[in-house]
Amino acid sequence: MKKIIVAFLLSVITAPALAAGGGMHNLDVDIDLNNKASLQRGAKLFTNYCLSCHSAKAMRYNRMAEDLGMSEKQVLENLIFTADYSKKPHGEPTKIGSLMDVAMRTSDTKQWFGTKIPDLSVVSRARGADWLYTYLMTFYIDESRPYGVNNQRFPNVGMPHVMWELQGLKKAVYKTVKGHDGKEKKVIEKLEMVKPGKLTEAEYADAMRDLVAFMVYMGEPAQQTRKTVGLWVILFLMIFGVLSYALKKEFWKDIH
Ligand code: HEC
Repeated sequence: MKKIIVAFLLSVITAPALAAGGGMHNLDVDIDLNNKASLQRGAKLFTNYCLSCHSAKAMRYNRMAEDLGMSEKQVLENLIFTADYSKKPHGEPTKIGSLMDVAMRTSDTKQWFGTKIPDLSVVSRARGADWLYTYLMTFYIDESRPYGVNNQRFPNVGMPHVMWELQGLKKAVYKTVKGHDGKEKKVIEKLEMVKPGKLTEAEYADAMRDLVAFMVYMGEPAQQTRKTVGLWVILFLMIFGVLSYALKKEFWKDIH
């Protein structure tokens, strides 16, 4: 038991330190999983901008429709852009009960991107909401990279800035600092907008909050139910506690 407690304490202490690595702090994002409208907007961004490369194979469209309060028709018409290649050589239209698979074949993605593109079903659990938000906010122009962009949260990432039309393009402004070893090095001070996108900076930040909220929902679709059930269980235990105490008093009242 002692060992378990020590291991737990250690993991609590070291986790933030590990997550922080890379010299950049995460930006904070305040998501609300009870806000269905925000999750719906997030789902729309996800299916429009991410599902073309990333799969989310732990999720089915009809489950998402039900959880986010959308009709199956709405989802079929607005959120499904892929074909299902698992069935026939040329694929067939994705059905409402299908898994959220990617539009490309996995073998192609390896060839085109030189890396296997990760499934995003549970990425929120591995990375955390703040990390994801920071990642989506900090793409910047870097001509030395294959897609002309780099990322502050995930340096040299192999993903293009797929939402540059929405956010616009930012450039890095550097400053020189002294490292621990006394040597001077250049670090990014801030990112500056050079080519504005369709959204204002505030609108883009809101959109990314919705997208992250959707990914957090996807990482654990039952979490809202779990919390509601948990509340009822605690309420039940409290009432049960009061009743059993009254019962105990009743049983013992004649015994002295
Ligand atoms: C053009 C294809 C493409 C699209 C579209 C795309 N990505 Fe990626 N993404 C990649 C590739 C390739 C990688 C792997 C990069 C690497 O490992 O260097 C990646 C990596 C990631 C990672 C890091 C995963 C990890 O934990 O290592 C996240 C998070 C991510 N993408 C989120 C998104 C989101 C959210 C969207 C939609 C807004 C999106 N991606 C759209 C190609 C894409």
